[in-house]
Amino acid sequence: MRNLHGKMAIVTGGGTGMGRELVRQLAVAGSHVAMCDVSPDNMMETERLALSETTDDVRVTSHVCDVADEADMLAFRDQVQARHEVEHVDLVFNNAGIGGGGSFVTDEDRMAWEKTFDVCWHGVYYGCRAFLPLLIRSEEGHIVNTSSINGFWATVGPDVPHTAYCAAKFAVKGFTEALNIDLRLHAPHVMAHVVMPGHIGTSIALNSTAAHGGPDLERIRKTLAERGSDVDQMSDADLTELVVSRGERFRDDAPTTAAEAAAIILDGVREKRWRILVGDDAIVLDELVREDPEFAYEPEFLQRIVERGHLNYFDSR
Ligand SMILES: NC(=O)c1ccc[n+]([C@@H]2O[C@H](COP(=O)([O-])OP(=O)(O)OC[C@H]3O[C@@H](n4cnc5c(N)ncnc54)[C@H](O)[C@@H]3O)[C@@H](O)[C@H]2O)c1
Repeated sequence: MRNLHGKMAIVTGGGTGMGRELVRQLAVAGSHVAMCDVSPDNMMETERLALSETTDDVRVTSHVCDVADEADMLAFRDQVQARHEVEHVDLVFNNAGIGGGGSFVTDEDRMAWEKTFDVCWHGVYYGCRAFLPLLIRSEEGHIVNTSSINGFWATVGPDVPHTAYCAAKFAVKGFTEALNIDLRLHAPHVMAHVVMPGHIGTSIALNSTAAHGGPDLERIRKTLAERGSDVDQMSDADLTELVVSRGERFRDDAPTTAAEAAAIILDGVREKRWRILVGDDAIVLDELVREDPEFAYEPEFLQRIVERGHLNYFDSR
């Protein structure tokens, strides 16, 4: 799909980050876009930005929808068909996601674990279920599912458990690869792409903390104490400040911006690449994991990546 002009695109999680940038760039390219998110205010800002940048007569609409809820997703699909008066869609970006729910072994917070898994996996699954029939009705359809480097490397460093997010992102990657074979057999004009971003400068850390109802101060206090910090001297306000400054650092110190990431994703779709690695860090990590999979979870492995000039943020937390 070289030309995005006049196409109908769906973007989940369009309120901020890569989703917002996808909406903006799609609108600039002349696509009509329907986005969903849990935040109407953020979508309003995305809509304003997108419409102020495009010279084309495009429609951009916002729909409140929790992607982890199938009834919401189906209602989103019905609203898209009614408001855009379309029988088919051309592109679906299943992008919404949150982090959190690190440890499975300690079962510190099962609700957080399941929430992260539900948004990251079921959000993609329900998005595919709801919109695939509409993609099949198009001349050429693209389904673009956002996984992560955590879809092929199940860690963010040796001292942080990250089980829910990694389980979901591996599921997204495996499902999307298998879906491509199924599509070739049953709907060869539709293609599935798996997106694997490295470290991208977005507010995902801050947004994820908010999605889980604020920082889990008890757990953070315990983790810091285990790592030797004198937490007795830290108030809850100090801990909250620490979480916020880490989230801001994650956003501000990233090697790839959200806008650059969206451009890489759209180029991947235009070039019909099913496997879209986003950022040099993702490309190098993919090489290193393939080169020596047995070593990928050793503490020194992160060091190999850092020596190549990548994922410094993960090393310095
Ligand atoms: N930022 C990174 O470094 C990075 C790396 C790899 C993968 N990813 C993935 O990229 C995708 C986009 O993340 P981002 O970094 O732009 O983060 P972000 O927090 O800026 O954007 C995610 C958007 O999804 C929305 N969202 C969250 N839960 C939702 C729900 N239940 N229903 C609907 N919308 C919901 C949020 O409100 C937000 O607008 C996610 O799937 C994320 O896991 C991000």
